[in-house]
Amino acid sequence: MKEIKWGIIGCGNIANKFASDLALVKNAELIGVASRSQDKAVTFGRTHSAKKAYDSYDKLLNDGEIDIVYIATPHTSHAALSIKAMKMGKHVLCEKPLALNRNETQNILKTSNATSRFFMEALWTRFNPTFIEVLHKIRQGELGTIKYLNAEFSFKSDKPLGSRVLDVNLGGGAILDIGIYPVFLAYMILGKPTKIMATSLFHEDTKCDVQTSMIFSYENAQAMLYSSFASKTEISANVSGTEARIQIKEPWHAAENYSVYKDEKSIDFNHKLTGMGYYYEILECHKCIADNKIESELWSHQNSLDLISILDEIRKIVGLKYPQEP
Ligand SMILES: NC(=O)c1ccc[n+]([C@@H]2O[C@H](COP(=O)([O-])OP(=O)(O)OC[C@H]3O[C@@H](n4cnc5c(N)ncnc54)[C@H](OP(=O)(O)O)[C@@H]3O)[C@@H](O)[C@H]2O)c1
Repeated sequence: MKEIKWGIIGCGNIANKFASDLALVKNAELIGVASRSQDKAVTFGRTHSAKKAYDSYDKLLNDGEIDIVYIATPHTSHAALSIKAMKMGKHVLCEKPLALNRNETQNILKTSNATSRFFMEALWTRFNPTFIEVLHKIRQGELGTIKYLNAEFSFKSDKPLGSRVLDVNLGGGAILDIGIYPVFLAYMILGKPTKIMATSLFHEDTKCDVQTSMIFSYENAQAMLYSSFASKTEISANVSGTEARIQIKEPWHAAENYSVYKDEKSIDFNHKLTGMGYYYEILECHKCIADNKIESELWSHQNSLDLISILDEIRKIVGLKYPQEP
């Protein structure tokens, strides 16, 4: 397979982890990294053996050697950067959530179509081999008809005031940052809910949601979902069908272990992740680019649009609107 040449935009927490996994992919080369700060770009570039370090995102986008950019900045900048990158000829892998809302998402997807550039939201759980195997078993009917699932993503955050996750000006809050994972799970297994109930607790200073509980109703099933920065719960997921149930073990969004419970017996399954789990979404980008596709079949443009539409609805129910929104 042809060498794929990468650029990374934003040298923060997740970019570091992603770059470590990128180094494990055989035909990936890290050409450039870009930060708003020259020092940060140089340090990050050295750590991850990038050929070039840029002190501006635009300079990296102007680098003709780069095929695809990974965007790892706060949510509020995802749409503008993705659109600019594609217009400048780059393929794009953009961190989740791919945008602040459905409107921004539609603009991204239109640009991918108009420029014929590959675009994918970095919903890494979708490409995790354990998750793929669990989904296969569920879709093959091994659990019977699915009636119920629950999933949580919560931890006690030590982020200070002013950090991205608590700042509404940067799309802060639990729903978009971590609630997206349980919502993704319900969407993958049960589809779009017919009715949503949701309630949030808000940060007293910044007013973003710090804790959100959700119930999704379907014609014949229900899902209970939870996300919080306030306290730790077990980050596991349970899917229950008429014939059997599955528990995806902690942390279910980066799973290596799951158990199937049927007829009073249980069987455990284990698949060690390569790297931290970002490896698999990188392989998917390479495959799609090699096949001249502008979207992944595993996590399509429509999937991203559906997911952000559900998140929009949850935010509407709990009353969380961002300053950038009309
Ligand atoms: N897939 C996952 O497992 C995962 C995990 C965590 C986060 N994420 C997603 O990745 C994105 C980044 O999250 P993160 O945790 O890496 O955040 P972070 O540590 O705060 O890094 C974000 C980077 O974005 C750049 N940036 C540009 N404009 C900024 C601004 N106004 N304020 C702050 N930073 C700005 C900064 O890079 P420079 O200073 O270098 O320009 C900063 O280091 C989010 O959308 C988040 O949802 C995904």
